[in-house]
Amino acid sequence: MKILVTGGLGFIGSETVLALISSGHTPVIADNLYNSKIGVLGRIETLSGVRPAFYRIDVSDKKALADLFEKERPEAVIHFAGYKAVGESVSKPIMYYRNNLMTTLSLLETMEEFGCENIVFSSSATVYGTPKRVPLYETDKRGETTNPYGETKSMIERILEDACKAFSSLTAVILRYFNPIGAHPSGLLGEDPRGIPNNLMPYIAQVAIGKRDKLHIFGNDYDTADGTGVRDYIHVVDLAEGHVAALKALDGKKGAKVFNLGTGRGTSVLELVHAFEKANGVKIPYVIEDRRPGDVAVNYASVEKAYRELGYKARLTIEDACRDSYNFQLKNPDGII
Ligand code: UFG
Repeated sequence: MKILVTGGLGFIGSETVLALISSGHTPVIADNLYNSKIGVLGRIETLSGVRPAFYRIDVSDKKALADLFEKERPEAVIHFAGYKAVGESVSKPIMYYRNNLMTTLSLLETMEEFGCENIVFSSSATVYGTPKRVPLYETDKRGETTNPYGETKSMIERILEDACKAFSSLTAVILRYFNPIGAHPSGLLGEDPRGIPNNLMPYIAQVAIGKRDKLHIFGNDYDTADGTGVRDYIHVVDLAEGHVAALKALDGKKGAKVFNLGTGRGTSVLELVHAFEKANGVKIPYVIEDRRPGDVAVNYASVEKAYRELGYKARLTIEDACRDSYNFQLKNPDGII
């Protein structure tokens, strides 16, 4: 299938492009390079032997998008493009609402114009807000998000559901990611954050190579076994496979369908630090700090629905992810150029 991948040079997008190529699909990439590097395209080619068609466009630019659709005629879209930093979204809410909503609306209008009826959307477990209990099921209430970034994901889910109700030929598969970590085992593709990493794994990896002094652990007084926050960390290679599996949901019944993509297992910050040390034979110095505002104690997925309906299950372990993240950091100390 020919599939437009918006944000296809990003951390999850690029890994998904690789997975699509290995499954016999033809990805076409649209990316404005806001949070990705052009060098990723060459690395995809090195790993797959295929250089996908690439359009350096802003997905909110309807004219550019229409030109792409005219030329490529994709049968489906996987929509990753969007801003994703929680903290930044609190200080720049309007920028987040404009960008994340406008890209999606332009995309949906263009899809309608060109008769493209399939979309897979990159959503987040953040739409569940503060969990009342775990694991989180797809049927749990959405909304009451804790930041503008999360709210854009929740709003886009609602837009997709409404669009599916109004246009009976449209299918939207909404994928709620838990915490993606790891990298391609080759060390050629991985997470390349700008500036100081917000997320735990890239921070640990930068401490491991001496780029940062020590890790700051945000709170050890949560109601968890060791007091640190618990999350459902999923290897990015598994997450990418989840998108290939999700394409199955485009066949058959039309409408909006939601799936969690996680492992169903929770790992604490300290457990992740120790797993990283063990997998890589390095020491990660850390200090305990106050809790980070907006963080929840425990968050992990129910993964039953994805298994039942898509036959999908994450395969890789925390150790695999620790090894691959370190390998990527070692090979790309200054990120992808
Ligand atoms: N943490 C630290 N130190 C750090 C960074 C994180 O102790 O330097 C802790 C956090 O307090 C938390 C855990 O590590 O307990 C994971 O934090 P991340 O920032 O890596 O991930 P979050 O769970 O906060 O957020 C992630 C994504 C969001 C998404 C959310 C959905 O980054 O985009 O999951 O649940 F919205």
